[in-house]
Amino acid sequence: MSSADRPALTLALSKGRIFDETLPLLKAAGIEVLEDPEKSRKLIIGTTDPGLQVVLVRATDVPTYVQYGGADLGVTGKDTLIEHGGQGLYQPLDLQIAKCRVSVAVRADFDYAFAVRQGSRLRVATKYVAIAREFFAAKGVHVDLIKLYGSMELAPLTGLADAIVDLVSTGNTLKANNLVEVERIMDISSRLVVNQAALKLKQEPIRHLIDVFSRTVEATQ
Ligand code: PRP
Repeated sequence: MSSADRPALTLALSKGRIFDETLPLLKAAGIEVLEDPEKSRKLIIGTTDPGLQVVLVRATDVPTYVQYGGADLGVTGKDTLIEHGGQGLYQPLDLQIAKCRVSVAVRADFDYAFAVRQGSRLRVATKYVAIAREFFAAKGVHVDLIKLYGSMELAPLTGLADAIVDLVSTGNTLKANNLVEVERIMDISSRLVVNQAALKLKQEPIRHLIDVFSRTVEATQ
């Protein structure tokens, strides 16, 4: 597809909650996505609006796609945005979707409060290195951060770390692995992010989407 044939706008989404919870926002703009990413292997999906296509990328890649113009817009969690740094992105709207929190969790038999009081050096495993570094620095707790890319819950169970910093939604994953939440670091929701050049060059269709999304978010709060 040459760039001349490409739809005017490309929206980057990740499969799962963000995709599912973005659908009602698109619907409010009169747009339906033409395929279910859980059933199709396609990475570029058309919509009922010939001027908009959706690209499916890993959650952590959404800000990067939008930053470099691989997509004009994207939906991404605050957690992912903080880790990315947000360079080159406008963040016009908190969509109030995919809500969860970033928390510290430990094994149920680990006395976290005591370890912190003692000034012990904690080993903390996480995918959220920037968030964890800032949080423990502000508390004056010394930590060795171990970067992981998934299944953080395993780290305290195998002795890799004393604690993890991870997303918690229902708390079921922690419970199933005999871990307890000991500190809530921040609440998370997903944001609309926009490529800075695209906002200038494709102002009208982007502003339209922002307006519809914004009215829909307000109406549902
Ligand atoms: C997240 C997080 C936890 C889980 C928490 O993982 O990392 O493992 O959800 O949800 P709960 O509190 O409702 O059990 P996700 O499924 O997003 O995949 P990930 O491990 O790739 O981050």
